[in-house]
Amino acid sequence: MRTRPLKVALLGCGVVGSEVARIMTTHADDLAARIGAPVELAGVAVRRPDKVREGIDPALVTTDATALVKRGDIDVVVEVIGGIEPARTLITTAIEHGASVVSANKALIAQDGAALHAAADEHGKDLYYEAAVAGAIPLIRPLRESLAGDKVNRVLGIVNGTTNFILDAMDTTGAGYQEALDEATALGYAEADPTADVEGFDAAAKAAILAGIAFHTRVRLDDVYREGMTEVTAADFASAKEMGCTIKLLAICERAADGGSVTARVHPAMIPLSHPLANVREAYNAVFVESEAAGQLMFYGPGAGGSPTASAVLGDLVAVCRNRIGGATGPGESAYAALPVSPMGDVVTRYHISLDVADKPGVLAQVATVFAEHGVSIDTVRQSGKDGEASLVVVTHRASDAALGGTVEALRKLDTVRGVASIMRVEGE
Ligand code: NDP
Ligand code: HSE
Repeated sequence: MRTRPLKVALLGCGVVGSEVARIMTTHADDLAARIGAPVELAGVAVRRPDKVREGIDPALVTTDATALVKRGDIDVVVEVIGGIEPARTLITTAIEHGASVVSANKALIAQDGAALHAAADEHGKDLYYEAAVAGAIPLIRPLRESLAGDKVNRVLGIVNGTTNFILDAMDTTGAGYQEALDEATALGYAEADPTADVEGFDAAAKAAILAGIAFHTRVRLDDVYREGMTEVTAADFASAKEMGCTIKLLAICERAADGGSVTARVHPAMIPLSHPLANVREAYNAVFVESEAAGQLMFYGPGAGGSPTASAVLGDLVAVCRNRIGGATGPGESAYAALPVSPMGDVVTRYHISLDVADKPGVLAQVATVFAEHGVSIDTVRQSGKDGEASLVVVTHRASDAALGGTVEALRKLDTVRGVASIMRVEGE
C-alpha cells in the first residue's frame, strides 16, 4: 500500500457532503485498503464557516473554494454544492489545476457535461457523477461500463423521489396534491422550493444524462420534453384505477424503431398495476433499461438522501483514486453515435383522453371522426353521464404525439365538446 495519502477537497458540506465526510472518516481503513492508499480530507468549502459540523476539523473549513481547488496538491475534488455557478467554474478550475472530479450535480452535468468532459479529457483527468442520477442506485457505471458491449434501446424509470412520494400518497391515501406535497416537505423529501422536482426539471436533467450515456449521443437538458405533475388530479387517479393502472412521473429515453434518432421525455403517465414500476412506493426510484442482448434490466433503490447519495459519491471517489494511482483515467464522454434528438411530436405511444361532451345523438360519431381524420386509432371508449352532459374517456392505440395534438386541437373546436378534462400518456404495456 502506498503511504502518501491522496488528498480530497470537499466542496459543500450539506445533506450529501456531510455524509461523504462522515463515511470518509469512519471507513478510512477500508477505503485505504480498497484504493491502495489512504485518502485524506484536505479541505472543506462551505458558505457558512461558523456552522457547527460534527466530525469535521474546523481548521479544514474555508469559504474560499477557489483557493482550495487551485492549491495544486489536491488529487480529487468532490463537488456537492449543486447548481450551475460557482460549481461549473470550480470544477473547471480544479481540473486545470490537476485534480480529478466527482460530482453529484445533475443540473450542471445535464447542461454543461460536454464542456466539462472536454476539459477533463484535455487535462487527462476523471469526471465521475454516479450520484447525479437516482442517488444510490448504480446506473451510470452499468450503462457506461457493464453495457458497453450491448445496444441500449430504452431507458424508462422513476428518477425523482419527491414526486414519486407525492403521487404514491395521492394514489394510496386519496390525498390531494397540496396535502401530499406538504407531507413530503414535512418528511424532508421535498425542498423548501419544490419547483425543480414537481415541474420535472430534476427528472429532465437526469433523463438527459441517462440518454446521453445510453445512446452515445449528446443530449442536453433543452432536448428533453418536460411536463411536471402539478396538474395530476384525484379524477386522473380514479380513471387510471378503472383501467387497472396507476400514475407515475416517468423519464423515458428511447431509440427510434429505425435506430436513426432518439427521444427523451419526462411527464406523468398511466402504467399498468402489473408493471414493476407501479409498485415503486414512497420516495424510491427505479429504472428499467432495455438492451438488445441483455433484455430487460431493472435498477431499484433510494434515489435521494444524504447517506444513499454519499454511497454513490464514495464509489466514484474510490474508482477515481484507483485510476489516479494506476496513472490512468476511466471512460470519458462517449458521444460518437451523434444521433439526432427528435422532437416530442415524433414520439409514439398510447393516450387516455377524458372529454366533457353534450349527450345527444351523433356526438360519439363526431368525436370518432376527428380521431380518424388525424390517423389516431381508438382502442376503447367509455361514456357516463346524465342530464344531457356526458363524460367520454377514449383510450387510443399507439399514435404519434403530433397526431394526438392535432386531434385534441380539433376536438376543442367542436361545439359538442365542452372541454378536454385531461390527456395522459399510457406507458409500460
Ligand atoms: P445542500 O444545500 O444540503 O448543501 C450544499 C452545500 O454547499 C452546503 O454545505 C453549502 O454551504 C455549500 N455551498 C453552497 N454555496 C457554496 C459556495 N458558493 N461555496 C462553497 N460552498 C457552498 O445540498 P445537497 O447536499 O442536498 O446537494 C448537493 C448536491 O448533491 C446537489 O448537486 C444535488 O443536486 C445533489 N444531490 C442531492 C441529493 C439529495 O438527496 N440531497 C440526491 C442526489 C444528488 P453551507 O453548509 O455553509 O450552507
Ligand atoms: N430532489 C431529488 C428527488 C433529489 O426528490 O429525487 C435526488 O436527486
